[in-house]
Amino acid sequence: ESVLAALGRLIDQNLREQAAPRYSSISKTDFHRPTWHISPPQGLLNDPNGFIYFQGHYHLFYQWYPFACEHKDKFWVHLISPDGVQWHTAPLGLTPSDWYDSHGVFSGHAMVMDDALWLYYTGNTRIGPERLRQTTQCVARSTDGIHFEKLGPVIDAPPAGITEHIRDPKVIHDGQYYRMLLGAQREDQIGRLAQYSSVDGLTWHYDGLSGDSLGELGYMWECPDLFQLSDQWLCILCPQGSPSPTPDHHVPHHNGYAKATLEADGITLDNWQVLDHGFDFYAPQTAQTPDNKRMLIAWMGLPDEVEQPSQSAGWLHQLTCPRELHWENGQLYQRPSTALQSLRGPQQLLLINTECHSTTVDLGTKQFELNTTLPIPASGHYTLYFHSRSGMITPASAGEPTGCALIMDGDSRTLTLDRSASLTTEGDTRRCIHLPEQLEELPLQVLADTSSLEFFIVGGQWTMTSRYFSAIDATFLALTRDHHDTPLPKQIDWYA
Ligand code: FRU
Repeated sequence: ESVLAALGRLIDQNLREQAAPRYSSISKTDFHRPTWHISPPQGLLNDPNGFIYFQGHYHLFYQWYPFACEHKDKFWVHLISPDGVQWHTAPLGLTPSDWYDSHGVFSGHAMVMDDALWLYYTGNTRIGPERLRQTTQCVARSTDGIHFEKLGPVIDAPPAGITEHIRDPKVIHDGQYYRMLLGAQREDQIGRLAQYSSVDGLTWHYDGLSGDSLGELGYMWECPDLFQLSDQWLCILCPQGSPSPTPDHHVPHHNGYAKATLEADGITLDNWQVLDHGFDFYAPQTAQTPDNKRMLIAWMGLPDEVEQPSQSAGWLHQLTCPRELHWENGQLYQRPSTALQSLRGPQQLLLINTECHSTTVDLGTKQFELNTTLPIPASGHYTLYFHSRSGMITPASAGEPTGCALIMDGDSRTLTLDRSASLTTEGDTRRCIHLPEQLEELPLQVLADTSSLEFFIVGGQWTMTSRYFSAIDATFLALTRDHHDTPLPKQIDWYA
């Protein structure tokens, strides 16, 4: 056995011991902590990893830095669930313990091969005083789904013409070969997908780049996923530095999907679309469910360093809810997993007095599901405020409630999410969807969990995902309109 492997095992043991207290105990409870979304016990969470159904359970990992709310040498946390909703923490998945992943066990996907669970991930290292990035693609394997043995790099350097920014392997089996997709950056700073193929999942052959059909879509593509939904292959990816889909969008980190055509010599992508129109959605991963559906979970955050109120309690970021994907009429729909209905309390009904200019209700909680239908006015606008503070119309708020505002505007036929009233307002504060002419009303489902809001619009044709930090007593829902003729939603159903 090599000295390096023995050293790696020692460091692994040491890192596990150091991280153990932060892994097993949740940092002091704070009122921004989600009640059922996945958040890190302490430290920083980012991408979901290795999402898969294996031997009767869902397995999900996430990128974790245990020792501070910073992007440093990442670990893989491991969670297991019977239904994708109730998760329990398994022993730590992977630690940055070896010469090829010492500066981060970066993102990747899982595969089931020969009854074993294989994790493909990117080994990130920094070399020398200049801390030059060095990237490998690595494998770890488990037969019991709990203990993983690292097999080391299977691709030890980027192909010609690609920088060290090549990462986040996704592996599929196409019936004949294993195929790996990697997010990559060309030396001329253009994002692309690098493709490899293999007969055994261990020896990989470089097949070239794909993505030219999407043109220049940013300087780096991260976190690809590739899967089939109702016979259509779809490729999800996160381009950085691509043109903004709307004028309100100022951050370089984007998400979207394209239709994919798999050919013997590569993958062609077309029809690029935004996947989530909110503020905090990145690095989504999907898994096939035992009943042949596709479930998606994403990081509810973005790559730049941020300051969020939860940091004072020692943790940062969370994942989205599990979402079922559907492909209908050439369009991707995302709906909350039906298993989430097990979290519902009794249904409650709110009838809106449509004579009033404004309505304010104390829901008494910041964790709820809400369903309603939003009429699209011919002119004028109305606003729904989530996590509103007391609903008191104070002079300071110029007669308007505050909260996370969802504005339905008939004149511009837009639906806008405005989070400028959040306790943290770093980054963008507005996101907007243009509503097609033929649409007369808009079914809306909202999942609120303390400091996050997920909006599912028209059965998930659009989603808007956002963190929203508010005071502990911001438990009110408010509705206002600009004019007494502007139509309002008539009723709201909700579950605490
Ligand atoms: C995306 C990402 C990945 C990388 C990981 C590191 O958020 O930058 O490309 O593998 O995070 O934590």
